[in-house]
Amino acid sequence: MAYGLLKGKCGIITGALDEKSIAWHVARRAHEEGAHVIMTNAPVALRLGKPKELAESLSAPLIPADLTQLSDIERLYDETLRHTGRPIDFLLHSVGMSPNVRKGKAYPEIDYEFYFKTLDVSAISFHKLLQVGRKKGAFARGASIVALSYIAAQRVFPKYGDMSDAKALLESIARMFGYFLGKELGARVNIVSQSPTPTTAGTGIAGFDKMYDYAHKMSPLGNASAEACADFVVALFSDLTRSITLQTLYHDGGFSAMGISEDLL
Ligand SMILES: NC(=O)c1ccc[n+]([C@@H]2O[C@H](COP(=O)([O-])OP(=O)(O)OC[C@H]3O[C@@H](n4cnc5c(N)ncnc54)[C@H](O)[C@@H]3O)[C@@H](O)[C@H]2O)c1
Repeated sequence: MAYGLLKGKCGIITGALDEKSIAWHVARRAHEEGAHVIMTNAPVALRLGKPKELAESLSAPLIPADLTQLSDIERLYDETLRHTGRPIDFLLHSVGMSPNVRKGKAYPEIDYEFYFKTLDVSAISFHKLLQVGRKKGAFARGASIVALSYIAAQRVFPKYGDMSDAKALLESIARMFGYFLGKELGARVNIVSQSPTPTTAGTGIAGFDKMYDYAHKMSPLGNASAEACADFVVALFSDLTRSITLQTLYHDGGFSAMGISEDLL
């Protein structure tokens, strides 16, 4: 059901790779709520994934950008502003990747070149997006910016490896940059910490199925789906949540507040 929550708004959605991606659902929901969506993904994802298919169905411009590259990010904002003709109202950071996790390197034995890559792709890319966007005057007054995280930023999930560090950094960047953008523009920056979700990035974690089942049994509402996450992110993009900022908001069916559940016992 659509409520016209984002009527007249425009913004950038990163990271929609295929129909399993959380960003895919956010892009669709934002469009349904009346927003003009601009999509971006890494050039390799445009070749291997299905972002073009989604972009066409939403009449959304699709702008290739490797979000670790400042020059790509500059072009992303320049082209976006040409399309919209005005600063954007929302931005979703939905990007994550760890070469250490991909190659099965245990946390105490990580490769440091890979580690820098993990932090750059999964966390520092968010700082870069915010820094370049701010410099270019790309954010409208009261804009809403959201990045996706996982509870491994706060608790130990051994197989999540160096992505745990990346998520902790991502959440700190949201708070720190959120302060400055709040003071300057009344803009909001929040983190949505999502349940395990069967996407390409999610299922790349060793033992994902067991983590998924464990979280599902632990959470009174069960795991939150990608569709439900999209509903929540769209609510955060809307004016209905205009005083929420600097928060890590758990969208996890109650998992983060649990100790043990009867289902698990
Ligand atoms: N799936 C889960 O269990 C889960 C849980 C909590 C949080 N998250 C987070 O949600 C976000 C989205 O992941 P997803 O689960 O939808 O998986 P996904 O694999 O569908 O999306 C990850 C996206 O990151 C993009 N990407 C990777 N490197 C990039 C780069 N250099 N520049 C631009 N884009 C790049 C990929 O192309 C892909 O579209 C990530 O931040 C992830 O950590 C996922």
